[in-house]
Amino acid sequence: MPILGLDLGNQTFRVVEMEEQKGRLFLRKYGTHEDSKLNLHSSSEQEIKKYATSLKQFITETGFSTPDVVIPIPESDVFTRVVQMPNMSEKDLRNSIVFEAEQYIPIPLKEVNFDFQILDQDAFDRDRMNVLIVAAKHTVLDKYVSILRTAGLNPKGLEPESLAIGRILGDTLNKPSATMILHIGNFDSQLVVSYRGFVRFTRSISVGGSDLTKAVEQNLGFDFSQAEEYKKTYGLDSKQADGKVAAAIRPVFDQILTEAKRAKVFYTTHNPNVIINRMIIAGGSALMPGLLFYVANNLDIEVELANPWRNVDFVKALESQKEQIIESGPTYVTAVGLALKVLKTDQ
Ligand SMILES: Nc1ncnc2c1ncn2[C@@H]1O[C@H](COP(=O)(O)OP(=O)(O)OP(=O)(O)O)[C@@H](O)[C@H]1O
Ligand SMILES: [Mg+2]
Repeated sequence: MPILGLDLGNQTFRVVEMEEQKGRLFLRKYGTHEDSKLNLHSSSEQEIKKYATSLKQFITETGFSTPDVVIPIPESDVFTRVVQMPNMSEKDLRNSIVFEAEQYIPIPLKEVNFDFQILDQDAFDRDRMNVLIVAAKHTVLDKYVSILRTAGLNPKGLEPESLAIGRILGDTLNKPSATMILHIGNFDSQLVVSYRGFVRFTRSISVGGSDLTKAVEQNLGFDFSQAEEYKKTYGLDSKQADGKVAAAIRPVFDQILTEAKRAKVFYTTHNPNVIINRMIIAGGSALMPGLLFYVANNLDIEVELANPWRNVDFVKALESQKEQIIESGPTYVTAVGLALKVLKTDQ
């Protein structure tokens, strides 16, 4: 059964149609639509209706073979945390975690949908286990479900974007290697720490690609679309354009890096048995020239570009677009991770 991984950005829809056949994952179709007039994060009903109508049109025009979708809940709308609990069965945990959750979740429990997942035993205390708690407000979930219904889609799953990112780029229990993922979107960025196959830590940073563009706009006196072009062409490569574009971007980009450094220190201080020695960079801004080199030099860590297609085959009809699909890989991380939420459990 095919499934759509639908990454709903503030002004972008990005979708992959994927299917599992004989244990192999196939990309069947993909597509992106961007419209700067859209605003998913608006609280106006009319704006949300506009978003849903535009989504419907995009889905109809692209033509997928299933209405079943998995979508992300933005990190700003969701609460994710790993807590330690005494060892107990899932059934017992279900009863007792509600009382625990009240301590951790900053919103009244009656206003949230709340779920948890037992991860593994605590590294230091064999009587305790790590449990992932996820909570999102009813109103937020209702908003997304209503968008999907208007667009003629059938919600099969919703999850925090960080979990989708971790699923596709994180390490595995078979090959453990603590990994920090930096996903730089348009309006904000996400940090995700994956260890032994689970997301252990997430943090949202309120700086994204559009802030880098604004820095070029303000420093070099361009309009926004010109600044966007310069950012994409020269980026953080200080050998280009007399180093002026890189110099404009650097201070804003450094805000993201400072948060990444802080998060790394925070996580490894609380988990001294874990050494994070690699970072994977994803999201549209990961494509910026000079970025990998700059991060590697500043973080003293192994850095690589995200590749969500590592275990994915493309159907014949996509052969001719292979190069383009591979190149835009870092922007499809969330969509592919979402699709795998359903395909993985089918296996
Ligand atoms: N080659 C490139 N160099 C630099 N930046 C790029 C490049 N290609 C895309 N970007 C930037 O990536 C950003 C968009 O990233 P992405 O597509 O991950 O965001 P989004 O999912 O649409 O947004 P959000 O999730 O924040 O609503 C934009 O700021 C864009 O300028
Ligand atoms: Mg995004």
